[in-house]
Amino acid sequence: MADLDDIKDGKDFGLDRPADTSSFFLKGSAHLDWGMKNRLSRIFNPKTGRTVMLAFDHGYFQGPTTGLERIDLNITPLTEYADVLMATRGAMRSSISPTTQKPLVLRASGGNSILGDLSEETVAVDIEDGLRMNAVAMAAQVYIGGTYQHQSIKNVLKLIDTGMRYGMPTLAVTGVGKDMARDARYFGLASRIAAEIGAHYVKTYFVEEGFERVTAGCPVPIVIAGGKKLPELDALDMAYRAIDQGASGVDMGRNIFQADDPVAMIQAVSKVVHELEKPEKAFQMYNDLKAGG
Ligand code: R5P
Repeated sequence: MADLDDIKDGKDFGLDRPADTSSFFLKGSAHLDWGMKNRLSRIFNPKTGRTVMLAFDHGYFQGPTTGLERIDLNITPLTEYADVLMATRGAMRSSISPTTQKPLVLRASGGNSILGDLSEETVAVDIEDGLRMNAVAMAAQVYIGGTYQHQSIKNVLKLIDTGMRYGMPTLAVTGVGKDMARDARYFGLASRIAAEIGAHYVKTYFVEEGFERVTAGCPVPIVIAGGKKLPELDALDMAYRAIDQGASGVDMGRNIFQADDPVAMIQAVSKVVHELEKPEKAFQMYNDLKAGG
């Protein structure tokens, strides 16, 4: 039984300070529930509103790609510099220490491979396992215009509906097939569809022309995938221009773990994302860190 002996009436109600009714810092997220916002605040830094997600989920459809042969060796040294890890449950359980304090965005689609049609995916993780993994979001691809467009949208819808029950955000990834267009019109369409069906944020690709229209036309935050490996300065320049044109961060894989010096690269990317450091200066930082060993 609670102790009733020394009950004191409250005295300081802060009458001169009205309750904080300011809105939530993240685009399109002001009306979500507390748990959802709390998870999103672990993905996006509330001070900068941005994130550096380290993507190493590639093996789920392409096997042991360059830079991810041994996730325990390749990725572990990078995790301290990432804001978020994006990976499959298999990679996390087998190769990443559960003592990590980095939030996990869980790859939750699968069932395809580079030997078949990439758009033929299914939801590959139950929400219960996402919760068991302590994930802060679950992710699946939408392949707009792909052979299995409808199925891929249904996958994301399923994540959204189950996620809404548990306060688990959904990241919709705008997947691209070999022959699909990669321009602002396409990514604007795919991102907007993802947001309208209820995705809490969207991963898409940077495009040279009209990217600011992609971000402006999407009512929730956009993060960019890095795409194929570029020279380090070009990758930093892409990250800079994406942020400058409205992206809320990166979900970058190959341009980090395939860099000459991945540990230096992720720090340079973070400087660009969170501080909008100019690409040339971030590249200098990369080279200095690389030289410092
Ligand atoms: C690909 O489908 C995966 O979702 C990757 O996470 C994504 O493409 C980002 O990795 P990268 O920067 O290598 O493109």
